[in-house]
Amino acid sequence: MSALPTVLDVDTGIDDALALLLALRSPELRVVAVTCVAGNVTLDRVLRNTLGVLTVAGAEEVAVAAGADRPLVRRLTTATFFHGVDGIGGVPLPDTGARVVDEPAAALLCRMAREHAGELNLVAVGPLTNVALACRLDAGFPRRLRRLVVMGGAAGVAGNVTPAAEANFFNDPEAAAVVFQSGAAVTMVGLDVTLRALFEAKRYRLLRDVLPGRGDAVARFAYGIMERYLEADLAAGLEGSPLHDPLAVAALAQPSLIRSRPLHVAVETEGRLTAGQSVVNLAGVVERLESRGDHDDVVGLTHPAPNCEVALEVETAPFIDLFCTRLGLLPD
Ligand code: BDR
Ligand code: CA
Repeated sequence: MSALPTVLDVDTGIDDALALLLALRSPELRVVAVTCVAGNVTLDRVLRNTLGVLTVAGAEEVAVAAGADRPLVRRLTTATFFHGVDGIGGVPLPDTGARVVDEPAAALLCRMAREHAGELNLVAVGPLTNVALACRLDAGFPRRLRRLVVMGGAAGVAGNVTPAAEANFFNDPEAAAVVFQSGAAVTMVGLDVTLRALFEAKRYRLLRDVLPGRGDAVARFAYGIMERYLEADLAAGLEGSPLHDPLAVAALAQPSLIRSRPLHVAVETEGRLTAGQSVVNLAGVVERLESRGDHDDVVGLTHPAPNCEVALEVETAPFIDLFCTRLGLLPD
């Protein structure tokens, strides 16, 4: 099979950077552009980090577009505790001649979806603001995508920002709701699987003795940025760093690494305690109510049509092997 034309929508971010590197090192994918959205850090830093990561990988020719600098209606929540103030764990970025293109992210997404109609893949690993704006700009956009892999949400586990919500959906619930109602062929790679895709601290410690002095530039950079991420994840009580965004890339490159079910997903936009929750209908059924004057009555059952493939299982060891091999993160 020829390499899949793919756009990454990122809020770079340490795991976004790792996802970009994995995509660029995956022969199954051809990265045709990267669109940026505010999330883990503000948009200016996301752009700077994205250009820097592409330069580390020797991929300065990939077009980088600027997108939304805030969610559709809410205040932006950045995450410097996990990613560092610069979003990249304080690791210096190389000088780069690469520049952001003039075309705004949403317009670029719509144009590329037309140019590669039925063939373009989009891996969205930040708040879904840019993707929602593209859906609004061109109603045909979502159905022109071959596949939209979204890192976000949680079907059967707690959120990571609030008990209800995962960070990307928490940051822009209204955008996530637009995307899940858009008719796109969505695969949701949420916390159910990404929290089981841990880069364990003990594996990192094995690299500590060998990697800094050797390895290629990509391996050294990946190793450097993971240190900050790991510290924060250990402080959060995990045994390693969840490779949230790289798993979304891997789910496109090698779909057999995840197992998913077609399910209906809605995103909560109104709850005070639950904003950004992905409400996944695991049972496949809801009660149908009819008004009876002063009350409602359950009169039957309905089966909402699935709008998403929800990843529920992950092949952890093969995924970690793929990630480490492709990024050169291997001990002697
Ligand atoms: C997601 O939130 C961001 O902080 C990460 O980059 C990832 O996309 C995990 O909840
Ligand atoms: Ca991200």
